[in-house]
Amino acid sequence: MLDYRDLQELRDSSLKLQGWIRRQTFSPGHEKTLRRFSSWEVSELIFRVNQNTFRGRLAADPSLPSGEVEQDGRQRWFSLDEVNELRRKMKINRKSLMPARPTGKRAIRVAVSNFKGGAGKSTTALHLAHAAALDGYRVLCVDFDPQATLSHSMGLSDVSEDHTVWGILARDLIHETRRMNSATQGAESGRHMPQRRLPTSIADTGLGELRVADFIKPTCWSTIDLVPSCANAAFVEFASAQYRHMNPDWSFFAAVSRWLDALPRDAYDMVIFDCPPAIGYQSMNAVFAADVLYVPSGPGYWEYDSTTSFIGQLSEALEDLVGFGDFPAGKSDFGKSFLDIRFLLTRYEPGNDLHRAMKDAFHKVFGDRMALHPIEHTRAVEQSGRFLSSVYEMDYRDMTRETWRRARSTFDVAYEEFRDTVLAAWDNMEDDA
Ligand SMILES: Nc1ncnc2c1ncn2[C@@H]1O[C@H](COP(=O)(O)OP(=O)(O)OP(=O)(O)O)[C@@H](O)[C@H]1O
Ligand SMILES: [Mg+2]
Repeated sequence: MLDYRDLQELRDSSLKLQGWIRRQTFSPGHEKTLRRFSSWEVSELIFRVNQNTFRGRLAADPSLPSGEVEQDGRQRWFSLDEVNELRRKMKINRKSLMPARPTGKRAIRVAVSNFKGGAGKSTTALHLAHAAALDGYRVLCVDFDPQATLSHSMGLSDVSEDHTVWGILARDLIHETRRMNSATQGAESGRHMPQRRLPTSIADTGLGELRVADFIKPTCWSTIDLVPSCANAAFVEFASAQYRHMNPDWSFFAAVSRWLDALPRDAYDMVIFDCPPAIGYQSMNAVFAADVLYVPSGPGYWEYDSTTSFIGQLSEALEDLVGFGDFPAGKSDFGKSFLDIRFLLTRYEPGNDLHRAMKDAFHKVFGDRMALHPIEHTRAVEQSGRFLSSVYEMDYRDMTRETWRRARSTFDVAYEEFRDTVLAAWDNMEDDA
């Protein structure tokens, strides 16, 4: 007979291995660090300018950061902060290197979501975040998945559940209940309205006193922050069901949206959500807070099948929210609306007949909702291990440059299409935050 104690034992020995892998992966200091980028990468792949032009500029202007010189003296290597300083200070052909952004608008929010497990959500979210940061955007990632793949990949593995989406939900319940109670007290209806009470197990957690910024952790990418997740945040699904009971007027699905609205409006450019492979309180919060839905799917028949059922379940779940009492402002009569919805094929192998046939089928069915460029299956990503590193983090000197270029270019092309989608949606965004 096996019970929870056996499961605990198995978990403990698994955690030991995880710790060991982390030490191997993130040494020294057990902390994830970000490598420097070579002048070849900075010029040709990041700024998209000729390498000689770039080198000429550096030589001509001593006020520009000059990076660190490689042992053999051929390449200079720049930190991300230096890349961003160069971007701010340099102009090429009188053109700024700063990324496009509609002025005065809050950050755009994109949910990478599919209820299908293993669809490539975390890989897509991680690579889009890194590509966006290299493109000069300031990114906030929110890990909605207690599997915490994105958090672990970004080097955050010692996370308390208070500082996850669960904490944001519980804090929102406390704040919303207080707000509703003071509104009822202030009402001049003359009727005595009962005050909503939260049990001390919630009211006394101290979560109500946390500030908005307390949920945000820095990562080794100076322009990427993260609201991390952890295994313990899994109970959000049970807890949220109880919370709804405590205050049935609480719009539980809008908690993260409200939290994001409270961030300083110029703190970030893009907010990217990595969603769990399930419909629930966390994934509904992600979807509800999103301006744009990005739906990755593998190229197999069953993945197509699951993606279809994802759209169906999502549509039903959103229909259920139509007419919910305390709906945040700015939404249509049909409840939640998105500025765009895109499907993206992942792990695609161009030489595989089945993949090609499925790609055609996806395009026939989803038409121009389908991203034109799939993310191809790459060995570099497949082999990057438990603590996923993006191809942008991998050093091309650790593999053949051709392998790295191929892997990187599939993510670059997918990112460029993503950026164009996001910029078009951003332009259409009414800024009501
Ligand atoms: N382009 C790719 N090339 C090679 N392997 C990939 C690629 N994209 C994803 N994978 C691999 O597929 C697996 C699933 O990917 P990922 O974790 O991104 O999916 P997910 O949708 O986030 O999964 P979950 O539903 O469990 O959250 C991982 O092992 C990942 O390394
Ligand atoms: Mg995932």
